[in-house]
Amino acid sequence: MNKVTVRDIVKLKGERKIVMVTAYDYPTSKIVDEAGVDIILVGDSLAMVVLGYPTTHGATMVDMVRHTEAVARAKPKALIVGDMPFGSYEEGPSKALKSAIAFVKAGAEAVKLEGGSEYADRVKALVNAGIPVMGHIGLTPQRYLKYGGYKPRGRRVEEARQLILDAEALQEAGAFSIVIEFTAAEIAGLITRRLQIPTICIGSGPDCDGQVLVIHDILGLSEHTPPFAKKYVDLRKIIMEAISTYAREVREGVFPGPEHTIVRLKEPLKPEELQEEVKS
Ligand code: KIV
Repeated sequence: MNKVTVRDIVKLKGERKIVMVTAYDYPTSKIVDEAGVDIILVGDSLAMVVLGYPTTHGATMVDMVRHTEAVARAKPKALIVGDMPFGSYEEGPSKALKSAIAFVKAGAEAVKLEGGSEYADRVKALVNAGIPVMGHIGLTPQRYLKYGGYKPRGRRVEEARQLILDAEALQEAGAFSIVIEFTAAEIAGLITRRLQIPTICIGSGPDCDGQVLVIHDILGLSEHTPPFAKKYVDLRKIIMEAISTYAREVREGVFPGPEHTIVRLKEPLKPEELQEEVKS
């Protein structure tokens, strides 16, 4: 049971596909780690799937650090990547470094930040300080205001060219891998072949070095599952059935049954006598 490091992840390029999944808490991290994923991403998708915000802008450094700590307490073998939330790195390299250090102190072994060549100086500053960085290009949900929503990327030549330049700038700045989200599969494949570092894709086709999904989408717990995600189980239905059975059994007096009624008086005493004693 060796701990997965960023070097192991880079070495997987061309060897086998890399598996990344999001997790935000202790018990889930234990499970996904036991299932054998390579990377646990404490994604800022936390804001939407756990905290109920309409966009990822809801995630703060306080939220992200707290949840990174919870994941780290599970002591996973998988690499822990903390996702830098909106507002934690845009101002400049020194703010980015301060935020990234907080992630490392919380137990992250790398951080991810959204953006291309315009953020290469942040990536360089973090890598120089010894903090491994995962890039994130294509659809970058934190920039939904700029792009007018959550639209696919790289379908036109000019945009595709910019994505290739962004990927190369991130690699040049020292990123150890890059997430490519909701991008034309041909372009994600092209970038994957051009780079020495692994690409990890979501909604960008099969020709990448790895894949990532939000765990709530895999488990069927999301309110809206994106069309590129695969629901492997309908946990919402399973939870609904379990909770409604529990509610019915409580209402009908079926639960707790004798096997769950485990605390009994040690001394022979009739409750009525006890009532008398309390009165006097
Ligand atoms: O926050 C997140 O879950 C992500 C993945 C979709 C890559 O950034």
